[in-house]
This record gives sequence, structure tokens and C-alpha cells, in this order.
Amino acid sequence: MKTIFADMTRGIDEQMISRAGRILLDGGLVAFPTETVYGLGGNALDAEASGRIYAAKGRPSDNPLIVHIAEFGDLQKIVRSVPETAVILGRAFWPGPLTMILEKNETVPQATTGGLDTVAVRMPDHPVARALIRAGGGYVAAPSANTSGRPSPTKAEHVAEDLDGKIDMIIDGGPVGIGLESTIIDLTEEIPMVLRPGFISLEMLRELLGEVRMDPGLRSADPSFRPKAPGMKYRHYAPKADLTIVEGSQEKVQEAIRRLAREKKAAGEKVGIIATDESAALYEDGIVKSAGSRQNEITIAMHLYSILREFDELKVSVIYSEAFETPQMGQAIMNRLIKAAGHHVIHV
Ligand code: TXA
Ligand code: MG
Repeated sequence: MKTIFADMTRGIDEQMISRAGRILLDGGLVAFPTETVYGLGGNALDAEASGRIYAAKGRPSDNPLIVHIAEFGDLQKIVRSVPETAVILGRAFWPGPLTMILEKNETVPQATTGGLDTVAVRMPDHPVARALIRAGGGYVAAPSANTSGRPSPTKAEHVAEDLDGKIDMIIDGGPVGIGLESTIIDLTEEIPMVLRPGFISLEMLRELLGEVRMDPGLRSADPSFRPKAPGMKYRHYAPKADLTIVEGSQEKVQEAIRRLAREKKAAGEKVGIIATDESAALYEDGIVKSAGSRQNEITIAMHLYSILREFDELKVSVIYSEAFETPQMGQAIMNRLIKAAGHHVIHV
């Protein structure tokens, strides 16, 4: 299949958006930018289109897709009812990086929800995404636009690396703004539960809803203790190298990584280090990449996946990363990093 590239880095191309909309209505696939990561879109109400998404990504079919909408009013057509909690969260955070899990109705095929009776819904905050959703009929199923098991794409180039030739169109909207996938909150539980941490933090949700829990399955390294979101159980975002996170006070972490990098290099390994603007100059051995500044945590979120891809390309064999316990996005950043490391964390 020849993939069409549409450049919208300088704004919306209306003609290309209607062409993309027609592709979606005909059951085809279009990758597009959102404020979190790039999505791989297909018509959410078309079981065959959902099937094509799973095939293009090589994704296990029990892992449900998020349905993207452009208007709050469109929510009621696909769910059994719209609870008050959804109204409150929608008013506060939509359009934006929050996905809500609700009971679905018969309009949504089980192929889209991985056989579940619930559906994940999000209204993205990106002009290209919203224009595409409207042009494509209002309901776009979209997982992150990466091959299953690779880091989520934060640039159109990442999408092309994974999916060129496998989908109908890639829309380039430039680099994304957040860099980690949306926060997922399950509103079908008696006490709302966060199934995936993201830019919208637990504290921000508690301020509006009162009691909110974090899925206990997220913290566990024990594979028999499963997170509720099927996607969170897979070892996603896995770099090819052996990734270890070093946790502790800044000074001890830097000291430990310097020593480990020196030892591994001497043993003939190709070492990569994930540092920050504050620490990058302190490392002497290995290829050092700064994720961003500890003073500006969104820069760290923004560059994490890109760096993991770059280290894959450089074929490093070992990666050491500093831990990032930042105030708002720390939980989300560490959740992704710990998964990428297969729970390999050293405390110093
Ligand atoms: O930021 C995002 O959410 C991006 C952009 C493209 O919007 N999308 C995204 O989709 O991250 P994906 O497919 O990579 O991740 C969706 C996650 C998976 O972990 C999946 O298991 C979970 O949402 N999920 C979807 N529907 C669910 C449901 N009904 N119940 C529980 N978890 C669900
Ligand atoms: Mg994904």
C-alpha cells in the first residue's frame, strides 16, 4: 500500500482533511497528531476498520482502543449513560489529555473495545485531530500510532518508521506537546480509578471528584497481579538495550551511573545514559542524552520516547536512566520508564 503524506505542520489543509475523512468513512486508516502522542485512526463504529488497526500495529486483539470524539454532545450516542462525574471531568479537562472509561451501548462494536462492555473515550486538544474526527464521522478509534511494543510516536517521522506502507495516510502536525499518552480514569468503578497516569494527575482529579484511587496493579512488578487496562500489562515501550533506572538522591544517582557506565564501557558494552540538562555534563562515559530540565517536567515527558528510539538506532546495548520524581507528571514519566525497564530499578 502506498501511504499518502499530508504536511499540516503550518496549519490545517482543508482539502487533505476531507480526503482523510473519506478514507476513514471508507474503512481506511489515517495517522494523525494529538496533543499527547500520534494516533492511528480508523472508524470506531466499523468493526472491520478496528480489525485493520490491530493488524497494522501487530496489536493483540484483546487490547481495546480509545474512541476519539470532537464534541461533548457526541458522547451520549455511544455510552449507556453519561454520569455526572463525566460531565464534571469533561467540563474541566476536555478537549485534553484525559480518557474516560464508561459503559458502552450497542453502537460500538466489540471489535473496538477488545470484547469489553465498556468503552474508553477521549476528546483530543489538537486542531488537526478535531478536524479529522469531524470529517471522519465523529468517532475515531485511535491507539498510539506505533508498532506494538515500540515507544509511542511523538513525531510524524516515528509513525513513518513503524507504519509506512501499512496505512492509507500519515498527517504530519509537527512534534506533539505532551509526549506521554493520556491519563485514563475508569468511571464505571464505585470509586473512580486511574488506570494509566498522564498529564492530568491524581491530585487534579481528586480536586474535582473527591476520592479517586490509583489502580494497584500499576505498581506491582508481579505479572500475576494485573492492571485493569489490558494495555498496561504488556511490556510496552521496550528499548532493544537493557535499561536500568537508578533511583536515590541526585548526587548518589550521578555517582552510581558514572561508575556503572565506566565499568560497562570497559567491558566492551555500548552505553547510553538518560540524564537531564542539570546533570548531562557530569557524565564522562557513554552516549549522554538529556531528556530536559528538572525545572520544566514537560520537557522530560516530551523527549522520553524519542530518546528510547534514538538509542535503538544507535544500537547501544545498555542504558542507565536517572529517576524522575517530578511534581505533576512524575507518576506518568516513571510509570512508562519502569515498564520500559521491565521493572529493573536500582536504589542507591
Ligand atoms: O493519549 C492517548 O490516549 C493516545 C492518543 C492517540 O489519544 N492513545 C493511546 O491509545 O494511548 P493506546 O491504544 O495506545 O492505549 C489505550 C489504553 C490501553 O492500555 C488499553 O488497554 C486501555 O487504554 N483501554 C482502552 N479501552 C479500555 C477499556 N474499556 N477498559 C480498560 N482499559 C481500556
Ligand atoms: Mg499505545
